[in-house]
Amino acid sequence: MAFISQEELNHIRNSASIVDVISSYLPLTQKGKNYFGVCPFHEDHSPSMSVSSEKQIYKCFSCGATGNVFTFVENFLNVSFIEAVEIVARQVGISIQTPIDHKKSTPYQEEYALMDFVLKLFQNNLNTEAGVEAIHYLKKRNLLEETRKEFCIGLSLENNVLYSILKKKDYKEKMLVDLGLIQEKNGQYYDVFRNRIMFPIHNLDGQVVGFTARCYKKEETPKYLNTKETYLFKKGMILFNYHRAKDSVRLTKQIIVVEGNMDAIRLSSVGIKNVVAIMGTSLTKEQINALKKLHAKVILMLDNDQAGETATYAIGSLLEENHLDFSVVRLSGEKDPDEYIIKNGKEAMLDAIKNAISFMDFKLKYFKQNKNLNEASDLAEYIKAVLNSLKNNDDEILKEITLQKLSNDYNISYAILKEQLGENEKKKEKKYEASKPIVKESKTSYDRICEKILYYMMHQKNFVKLYQTKLGIFPTKKYRSIANEILYYVETHKTINLADFITYAENTNLKEEIMDIINNEREEEFSEEGMLELLGVMKRKIKQEEILKIKKEIQQEMDVNKKVELLEKIAEIKMDIEEGCE
Ligand code: UTP
Ligand code: MN
Repeated sequence: MAFISQEELNHIRNSASIVDVISSYLPLTQKGKNYFGVCPFHEDHSPSMSVSSEKQIYKCFSCGATGNVFTFVENFLNVSFIEAVEIVARQVGISIQTPIDHKKSTPYQEEYALMDFVLKLFQNNLNTEAGVEAIHYLKKRNLLEETRKEFCIGLSLENNVLYSILKKKDYKEKMLVDLGLIQEKNGQYYDVFRNRIMFPIHNLDGQVVGFTARCYKKEETPKYLNTKETYLFKKGMILFNYHRAKDSVRLTKQIIVVEGNMDAIRLSSVGIKNVVAIMGTSLTKEQINALKKLHAKVILMLDNDQAGETATYAIGSLLEENHLDFSVVRLSGEKDPDEYIIKNGKEAMLDAIKNAISFMDFKLKYFKQNKNLNEASDLAEYIKAVLNSLKNNDDEILKEITLQKLSNDYNISYAILKEQLGENEKKKEKKYEASKPIVKESKTSYDRICEKILYYMMHQKNFVKLYQTKLGIFPTKKYRSIANEILYYVETHKTINLADFITYAENTNLKEEIMDIINNEREEEFSEEGMLELLGVMKRKIKQEEILKIKKEIQQEMDVNKKVELLEKIAEIKMDIEEGCE
């Protein structure tokens, strides 16, 4: 990223009015001190997002989205932080002093340039004599020239042609091996990809980081050979076609998730461009976050086979746990979305998307697999599976509807179903409490006080001073580190406010922890008394912890004199508490 100084960022942010900027994208209404609008970051119809002109931040009380003017633009337009800064600067008529070189601002410049070069070589191969058969294969699969160009499809050759060219260009073998382009065997170097149709894979930002390569002359294994994991190509961080899909996602507010690259290419080639492929049948946390960042409804449309069915259940459960808004399409007839479109056309595909079902409806069918519901034991198992999956759901209306449906369809008393669901939920709570009592307790008291203190500190310099003089240090490393970031910020900028600190936090490795605090805190009014009270409570807590520790030592101590010493220590701490924490 370009290194615009924090001063310059603060200057731009200070010159922009968050209310003006946000209202240029969506309508806001003033109510008292604050402005309110419908939050664009989750499915909503009521104005749950408040924008504070005083604090220059926005906060959604429903989904928790929080930030300053830069984060709003970044997330709303789905652009990088630097691009968001540029947009805001332009809007308020400030020209950024630091020259921003978008290319230079990314690391691995040389590597990306190399990957681009390799991509061009592959593309070129397709148009030579050697590419005739490959073109024929692609045509047979209905991939026309336009699509081949859009997806930068190419061809790798035999005889280590790639290695020879790169060698002549003075590329070092180590880098080529590290990037997964060539491999070494007994001191000799070979091309990794030989005589395969090459599909480039881009990272989320749109840089080429690897390839997936299909055999085409005859069926071989593997059917697709992929770039190995490299420092650029991390499969778990990538969604195929993400960078191209973004624009159309913004318009359609939907993102279709398919299994195979060919499925994504097919949908896109008929004009359904809001599609990504997961390149397999699982999803990582990073991929889920990337989907979340699109702020769109996910349409999960995996292959029409048993693996796709099982993956729909597994991935659906993950999406549900991560609170994504999504529905499910199960195609029938053809093996995958690619073949479905070839056989049935674009309109049939659009219809299938329109008729997407809820995850609950999918599960109602899924749990029936391999069961004969005319048999009592199978039916009982089925009902149990459905009730079990309901207990993790917060949607009371959905629960109600599903219970009614089960009751009607299978002629089972609604009261019994309801009672059983209640039992399951009680068990779930008990299990949770039994496994995590201490953590849960400390989260509600200790953590919340620490977080409140830190939240105060992010707002005003004098709260930071109070922390330094009255408390000085947090016993927990996480909070200590966040406090250190705040102290560092105040030291270097001589002042602090929440909106600027958010920008600063974006570039620290505590970003998530800091944003988590800002998301969760609801405090609107800040006073010195309030801060002193929090610090007092905190100090008492620390001292009481100390006392508890010493009491334990006393129990284990055999020496009477030492016992007395420890008791005196406790008395001292108690005096401290009474004096020090007024
Ligand atoms: P599929 O076998 O469903 O591929 O695998 P596909 O999209 O239908 O491919 P075509 O139509 O035969 O050309 C789905 C995805 O799993 C990964 C690829 O990313 C593929 O797109 N895969 C599959 C591999 O990585 N290697 C393989 O050998 C097969
Ligand atoms: Mn296929």
